[in-house]
Amino acid sequence: MKFLFRRRHVHDVQAEAANDQRLHRALGPVNLTALGIGAVIGAGIFVLTGQAAAKYAGPAIVYSFLLAGLACAFAGLCYAEFAAMMPMSGSAYSYAYATLGEFIAWIIGWDLILEYMFAASTVAVGWSGYVVSFLKDLHIVIPAAFTGAPYNHVAPADAGWNIWRLFTEGWTHTGAVLNVPAMVIVGLITILLVLGIKESATFNNLIVAVKLLVILIFIAVGLAYLNRHNWVPFLPPAEGPGTFGWGGVLRAAGVIFFAYIGFDAVSTAAQEAKNPQRDMPIGILCSLAICTILYIVVALVLTGIVKYTQLNVPDPIAVAIDSLGRGVAWLRLIVKIGAIAGLSSVILVMMLGQPRIFYSMSKDGLLPPVFSQVHSRFRTPWLATVLTGSVATLMAGLFPIGLLGELVSIGTLLAFLIVCVGIFVLRFTQPEIHRPFRTPLFWLVCPLGAFFCAWLMYGLPRDTWARLFIWLFIGLVIYFGYSHRHSRLAKHPANP
Ligand code: ALA
Repeated sequence: MKFLFRRRHVHDVQAEAANDQRLHRALGPVNLTALGIGAVIGAGIFVLTGQAAAKYAGPAIVYSFLLAGLACAFAGLCYAEFAAMMPMSGSAYSYAYATLGEFIAWIIGWDLILEYMFAASTVAVGWSGYVVSFLKDLHIVIPAAFTGAPYNHVAPADAGWNIWRLFTEGWTHTGAVLNVPAMVIVGLITILLVLGIKESATFNNLIVAVKLLVILIFIAVGLAYLNRHNWVPFLPPAEGPGTFGWGGVLRAAGVIFFAYIGFDAVSTAAQEAKNPQRDMPIGILCSLAICTILYIVVALVLTGIVKYTQLNVPDPIAVAIDSLGRGVAWLRLIVKIGAIAGLSSVILVMMLGQPRIFYSMSKDGLLPPVFSQVHSRFRTPWLATVLTGSVATLMAGLFPIGLLGELVSIGTLLAFLIVCVGIFVLRFTQPEIHRPFRTPLFWLVCPLGAFFCAWLMYGLPRDTWARLFIWLFIGLVIYFGYSHRHSRLAKHPANP
């Protein structure tokens, strides 16, 4: 069982990151920050903020954003240290391989599929909802049978920890055939990603500019219509566990954590960055800081222009605008355009991240060689991209948003937790390594980051945990069936 703990030398990973020039080094700090913003601002702000305010926290959702933002800041600092020290496209997977050993690395690589691929499908379903509604405003109606998932799943309430029942029971047929718009957007983005990193980043810059502009317009108009009475009470009194009061603020922090997911995707572009040692921390930390500020301001404005009780709807920002009267009806359409742009870039960056993790895992021998094939002309990991795109397209077409989304949060939290632990361990085991960026107060930041992530995971529902276990079990079967025997370290052992 010693193979479970075999590790790659940090120097070996660094040398590979420097020498592997197969991917196109085309990204600078602006592109990288835009990738982070592209991945972060999406369904979370356009949908979840209003719902979490209405159900759990009221205007105090602002505190929830601060809390979740703090947890992400701790994880972000740890990501920045790793990404500058070992700029590998495998991101958390590669970091774990050099610190905690092959088995944990495999678990995290497998787990990251939940973050990237599932997030792409989740957000594609949200994208479909906004596009259908936007087209309806233009009097173009797509039949409902082709805009929804054919299956829904509600876990049986009495299943307890019976994983088999949680997984197999509770499925219903909705009557829809397929979510065609969701499939189309994933397919189109897959093609773009195959065509080149520069092309993908340029397209991302464009849509990030659109969504930022729309959010700024919303904030500017909203500020003119603020009604301070809507903020009273700012922290509504508790109505039961997890509903309003401080308990509700904590619960809402768990829900809106989804809104922050994505800044870490910047690290998967490390091998396409021109100067990763300097620009990885910039991309990760700047995108996180910009998004945190925007989220807090949007949350304040949203709950300031409309009473939080009215926000439990699929399009809370549009509802808030409607409440301002006919004078700003034009803004409704603009917000929808912003949401569509926002969600497109989330899908793009998530779908950019996934194949790059596969690429690293395949180069290490843990996945078959097809995953690390680079297109000779486009210099992208094209087969892994097409494979990711095909599976994400199918999932987006078949499953509802709730089922997909809950897995994304738990998968991401597990990755963040392991990254925080990894930085802490490495500071003691290999303090001499050159670190272009150092997490400040690591002895405090790493344990707090790990603690916050574990705590947010603890708050997630039982059936989400059950799905995580099933997912990890499938991962174990693949690891013991294929990966550990094909691992490059099995053939060329290294002993750091
Ligand atoms: N943070 C991303 C979003 O909110 C996943 O859509």
